[in-house]
Amino acid sequence: MGELFQIHKGTSRVVLSSSLFPKVVVKVARIRLIAGCISLWKWKRFLLHRFPWKVYHRCLPTPAGFWWKGVVENWNEHNFYQENKHPLLQPTLFSMGLVNIQTRGQPLKYDSGKFRECLHRATNGAVAADGHHFDNINNFCFWNGLKMVDYGSPNTQRIIESCGAMIKEGFDREFGEIV
Ligand SMILES: Nc1ncnc2c1ncn2[C@@H]1O[C@H](COP(=O)(O)OP(=O)(O)OP(=O)(O)O)[C@@H](O)[C@H]1O
Ligand SMILES: [Mg+2]
Repeated sequence: MGELFQIHKGTSRVVLSSSLFPKVVVKVARIRLIAGCISLWKWKRFLLHRFPWKVYHRCLPTPAGFWWKGVVENWNEHNFYQENKHPLLQPTLFSMGLVNIQTRGQPLKYDSGKFRECLHRATNGAVAADGHHFDNINNFCFWNGLKMVDYGSPNTQRIIESCGAMIKEGFDREFGEIV
């Protein structure tokens, strides 16, 4: 039973893979009810006490961020793939918002520091604008070459549009082309 199901927990999705459906993964949006309620309470406290707005509001996540981020990222991921079909994207086949079906890739077994350096070099540092996604090797995989699995954020999508080809070329140059 050990390998029958595997679960990867991201900040906004839980990703399920299984030998029962070996070619795809199921990405289920996390709806973080309690974290959202806590942030609502913090906002209420913040508004009542009138903390200095400009300093404080930037680091206070909104409740919607906890409740809907996973659903929004699932939609964004599906739409971006369908509109774009960029060769760096791991194909997203289907979306209902709450649940996405994406083709399953193999994890990259490289040194994560070396991989990160490669992305920075290939894009002249442009990936630094989205460290959450581009500094984490787990957001990439192999599936007919290098692919990215986590591309629901508009920031990530902007970088893929402008630097996706450079990332693929830089990766092939430094790690060798793998089909
Ligand atoms: N298509 C896929 N094939 C294989 N593994 C995948 C795939 N999609 C996701 N995973 C695994 O699930 C993990 C979480 O997925 P993903 O990064 O899309 O979720 P997230 O909630 O957006 O994550 P994050 O915490 O980076 O914001 C990935 O780091 C990866 O290990
Ligand atoms: Mg991720």
